This record gives sequence, structure tokens and C-alpha cells, in this order.
Amino acid sequence: MIQIRNLHKSFGKLEVLKGIDLDIQDGETVAIIGPSGAGKSTLLRCINYLEEPQKGTIAIDGESYDYETMTSKTAWKLRQKSSMVFQNYNLFQHRTVLENITDPLIHAKKMNKEDAKRRAVELLQMVGLEEKAGQYPRKLSGGQQQRVGIARAMAVEPKVILFDEPTSSLDPELVKEVLRVIKRLSDQKQTMVIVTHEMQFAKLISDKIVFLDDAVIQEEGSTKELFENSENVRLRNFLQAISLDDL
Ligand SMILES: Nc1ncnc2c1ncn2[C@@H]1O[C@H](COP(=O)(O)OP(=O)(O)OP(=O)(O)O)[C@@H](O)[C@H]1O
Ligand SMILES: [Mg+2]
Repeated sequence: MIQIRNLHKSFGKLEVLKGIDLDIQDGETVAIIGPSGAGKSTLLRCINYLEEPQKGTIAIDGESYDYETMTSKTAWKLRQKSSMVFQNYNLFQHRTVLENITDPLIHAKKMNKEDAKRRAVELLQMVGLEEKAGQYPRKLSGGQQQRVGIARAMAVEPKVILFDEPTSSLDPELVKEVLRVIKRLSDQKQTMVIVTHEMQFAKLISDKIVFLDDAVIQEEGSTKELFENSENVRLRNFLQAISLDDL
């Protein structure tokens, strides 16, 4: 279980997260929705400690971290607990597909080369790309690159995988192949947090939805409850704004 308490993050005078409390159960898929600039990416980046919050605590994998008293050692430990899947894949372009997956295993997890390779091949099979192992990322389609990104994120066996709009850079016909991989992970009870604008997908796979707006969690609840019964005006307006029903 992951417990975030009273997380505050500002950039200069701009308060982007104002006291976030969030629980994520083991095996749960949580979708974060909300308007642009709400702080969704920043929240994911704080969980992964790519951003340093000014205040708050996070408990993950039985260990508790206070953002105000982090050291380089605790920061390193916290970073190992999660992995990110980015909108723009963020693969190393000068490393092959296989090396993109084995590098973190060899360097962060101290795995030997043979074991790392074996694990990488397994993961590439899982995302249907074993035949691309020796290619460089630029030779792959966006959908294929993102599937490599997901395989890389899984490789280190993180407690939670954090997806930041994983399909929003993709051509429409490539979205499904990536969503299919993410859905399979969700079915396998991998703990995940997904920032997405794909409401249909959020409805389909998430156990819980969190609606972030104006630097705070305005509403959270089970997927069904939130889409069907919420009386939260901001959420209704947001869903209305992105709906195509009234074109
Ligand atoms: N490194 C940074 N320096 C300064 N301001 C930042 C930084 N990163 C984000 N912000 C600001 O913080 C706010 C929240 O940004 P964030 O990227 O978390 O929003 P978001 O909800 O992910 O939006 P989108 O849906 O457009 O991706 C925005 O006003 C943004 O301009
Ligand atoms: Mg974002």
C-alpha cells in the first residue's frame, strides 16, 4: 500500500499541489484525471521523486519517507520503488531496445548481464517485441517505442508503475496496442497510477479515479460512483467540457 499525506509542491510562488492525501492499495489501478495545469504530472513526479516536494510524507513498501528530511540515500531508495512511463517514451536513442531494458537492471539492480538479458527478452515477449531486441528506438513506431518503455518500467519490478499520458503522443491506430499492454498489467494486479485523458480507458481499467483540479484532489472514488453519481460541480463541468455528446 502507498500512503501520501499532506504533499505540498510549489514552483516559486506557484502552488501546484496543496496538501495531497492519497491511498493506493496493492494491485490497484488508479486513474488521475483533471484539466491541464491541475498538477497531475507533478504529482506523479513527486511520487517518483523526480520533483522534490516542500512538505509531506509518503509510505511505500513498508517504509516511510518525509520529504522535508530526504537525503541522497533515502531519495535513491524512494526512486527505486516506482518507475515512470512517459508521454514521449524517453528511451535512450543510442542504446538498443534490449539495452534500454538491461541497463537499469545491470546498473540499479546490480543484476549480472546474462540474467538481465534473460529478463529483458521475457519482457519483450510480453509486449510482443522480441524481434526488435537489437534495433535502435528510432527505427520503431511510437506504439512500439512506448511498449518498450513499459517493458523497461516493469523490468525493475517496481512497487508501482506511474504512467503519464502514455498514449497521447501516438497516432490513433497505435493507441490500442499500448492500451492493451497496460490493461494486461492491470489484470495481473500490477499496482499502477495512470494520468490519462482517455476517459473510456479510465472507466475500463481503473479501480479508483482521482479528480485533481486547482492543486487539490476535488473528488475521488470508485470509477462507477464517480462517473455516474458524482455531484461535484467541477467534475461535472470537466466531464462535460471533454465530452463530445453535445457537439
Ligand atoms: N518545472 C516547473 N517549473 C515551473 N512550473 C512548473 C514546472 N512543472 C510544472 N509547472 C507548472 O505547474 C502547474 C502544473 O503542471 P503539471 O505539468 O503538473 O500539470 P498537468 O495537470 O500535468 O497538466 P497537463 O494535463 O497539461 O499535462 C502548471 O501551471 C505548470 O506550468
Ligand atoms: Mg501533465
